[in-house]
Amino acid sequence: MSDLLTIILAAGKGTRMKSKKNKVLHKIAGKKMINHVVDTAENISSDEVICVVGHQAESVKQAVSSKSIKFKLQSKQLGTAHAVFQAGKEIKDHKGDVLILYADIPLIKQSTLNQMLNHHHDNFADLTIMTSILKNPNGYGRIVKDNSSKIIKIVEHKDTDENEKSIKEINSGIMCVDSKILDDALNNIDNNNEQQEYYLTDIVSYINGKDGRVISYQTEDPVEITGVNDRIALSKAEKKMRKRINERHMANGVTIIDPATTYIDESVEIGLDTIIYPFTYIEGDTEIGVNNMIKPHNHIINCKIGKNNIIINSNLIKNSKIGDECQIGPFAHIRPGCNLKNGVKIGDYVELKKADINVGTKVPHLAYVGDAEIGKKTNIGAGTIFANYDGVNKNKTIVGNSVFIGSNSTLVAPLTIRDNGKTGAGSVVTKDVEENTTVLGVPAREYVKKKDD
Ligand code: UD1
Ligand code: MG
Repeated sequence: MSDLLTIILAAGKGTRMKSKKNKVLHKIAGKKMINHVVDTAENISSDEVICVVGHQAESVKQAVSSKSIKFKLQSKQLGTAHAVFQAGKEIKDHKGDVLILYADIPLIKQSTLNQMLNHHHDNFADLTIMTSILKNPNGYGRIVKDNSSKIIKIVEHKDTDENEKSIKEINSGIMCVDSKILDDALNNIDNNNEQQEYYLTDIVSYINGKDGRVISYQTEDPVEITGVNDRIALSKAEKKMRKRINERHMANGVTIIDPATTYIDESVEIGLDTIIYPFTYIEGDTEIGVNNMIKPHNHIINCKIGKNNIIINSNLIKNSKIGDECQIGPFAHIRPGCNLKNGVKIGDYVELKKADINVGTKVPHLAYVGDAEIGKKTNIGAGTIFANYDGVNKNKTIVGNSVFIGSNSTLVAPLTIRDNGKTGAGSVVTKDVEENTTVLGVPAREYVKKKDD
């Protein structure tokens, strides 16, 4: 449909959210509310997408992920019709239909919008309102119909009388309308209502009065049109979005043992046959490959994880890369900037920061490894500390291949321990260790094996 202009309303104050931040900047499944709607709008083939901003306009503009959106400013928030009116010139210039979306309706699907647009065309309508039947219609505008089911008007919740309050069919806010008719209607709406706002919903009675054709398109799934006005609705939308995301992964071959306690951001990618145990959070720009086992209580943020890994219980892993066939945890803290190659083992109560750990190396228990580069097949003993901070600077430790660091060693950086080097248990290593050399003691000195040792 190339004759479509899409307008997203995002200028409102969102008072009911009780927040210093604009309502549409609150996140749902790790993505700002506005961007859920912007991304859906971008996927429908519109000629142009306009976003009306007002309250905290600059922050909203900055948050919008797409660069091809045009912004219009509504400097005073005088209602939804007044907001659409800000795009008056574009509406006047446009020949065809205008699709209006609200930035606080983040669950709406592209397929549902396409169905509504088709319904609009197939019925030669001037205005199509997306509606839904709700058990509890509180807070929503009600669709008032006559005996022949023709829509007469929309009444805002605050303006309803007792009869109208009992109507279960509600206005989603989403509509499709002919640009010429919209332009005319916007110029003729008043603010004679409880809120003293220019209501977009009033275009229904106006178009009816001009003998225009107003119809409704009822959504099959009322969940999609949830309007997020407060924190309760925000948590409900979060739950619904999460369910949708989990179901997408399950459909793609990921096992999620308990979707109710698995929290995956929209941006996350997961390969097939990966199994996710309960109470797991996977956030941000994270890619997880195939056939991984992610045991309970893991929190993974902005990570690239390969295949066939076992991530045992209760780890926090952030901004890091993990290869294939690794074993992590339980209770490991992998801080930003780590790069674990294939077959690495990070065990219980180990903290890593900016650590490059090469193939087959093990840090199995109770260690701190910071600002480090460790070679292949090296073993870092229990309780080892990489003393990377001298009180002023952070310094680096380089450990070679097949090195053996004895338990409870302290490696005082800057330091290099070359291939096949060894440290004795409890050593405090302050000087570089050469290849095939063993050091021990405090401070550590080279150990030369005597005949009777
Ligand atoms: C609106 C509808 C209501 C519908 C409900 C569905 C009107 C008058 N009412 O009510 O019939 O059932 O949505 O969720 O349209 N906005 C602006 N400028 C303004 C006011 C609002 O851009 O001056 C934007 C908001 O940022 C928001 C959207 O319009 O994205 C809807 O505004 P909101 O105040 O949430 O309207 P509701 O009370 O939910
Ligand atoms: Mg709303």
